Amino acid sequence: MADKKQLPGHIAIIMDGNGRWAKSRKLPRVSGHAMGAKRVTEIVQAASDLGVKALSLYAFSTENWSRPQQEISALMKLLVFYLQRQVKKLTKNKIRFVASGNIAGLPETARQVILNTIEKTENNRGMIFNLCVNYGGRQEIVDACRRIAEQVVTGQKQIGDIDEAVVTGSLYYPELAEVDLLIRTSGEERISNFLLWQIAYAELYFSPVFWPDFTKIDLLAAIADYQERERRFGGI
Ligand code: IPE
Ligand code: IPE
Ligand code: MG
Repeated sequence: MADKKQLPGHIAIIMDGNGRWAKSRKLPRVSGHAMGAKRVTEIVQAASDLGVKALSLYAFSTENWSRPQQEISALMKLLVFYLQRQVKKLTKNKIRFVASGNIAGLPETARQVILNTIEKTENNRGMIFNLCVNYGGRQEIVDACRRIAEQVVTGQKQIGDIDEAVVTGSLYYPELAEVDLLIRTSGEERISNFLLWQIAYAELYFSPVFWPDFTKIDLLAAIADYQERERRFGGI
């Protein structure tokens, strides 16, 4: 059982396996995504109840545009449906919603509901729920480079001033710059362009469970496993 005293401050999850979950039940891929959205509700609630400070969930990558148009539309619709239904509950639980990724590049309704949810929850001071949509880790670093270059060009910064703290400060959410525990479901063991800068010292946990089957119990098991690890950060 997870020990509340040594909780990972920031948990990031690559929610994978919706399609295979559906396939194993002879259902269309979209029903796997619908079931996956329900798990989002459960896991957000569980993390917030435990006292986790930040939770980042990978919902749609910059590479996911290569999927069939019909699946992309279904994912966007689910996103809108989920956020519209959850906004009140987020506030009730004092959860602050933020979104990482190229939000401007999303379809209009998805963009609107995301911005609206950010605004409605911006004064909440409980857990930060960071939904990564149209997100790419490399793109985030490119965006940070651009911001820094701009400051150099305008004379606000010298090249010699650029250090890790400056790069961190130019990320989408600098306060989320450190991931303690990265979980990937579905048995795949890769990063798929998620939070590249932020996972430098994250503990990695791979679960064989498909995301639509990933419950609070599985989250607690991941946290318990994390609590057994010895994090050395280069020391001895
Ligand atoms: C994860 O499930 C959800 C998204 C990437 C949007 P997948 O749709 O990748 O499921 P698999 O990997 O095909 O099983
Ligand atoms: C990663 O899953 C992206 C999300 C979970 C949103 P993918 O299923 O897209 O990753 P790959 O293609 O298997 O690496
Ligand atoms: Mg996948």
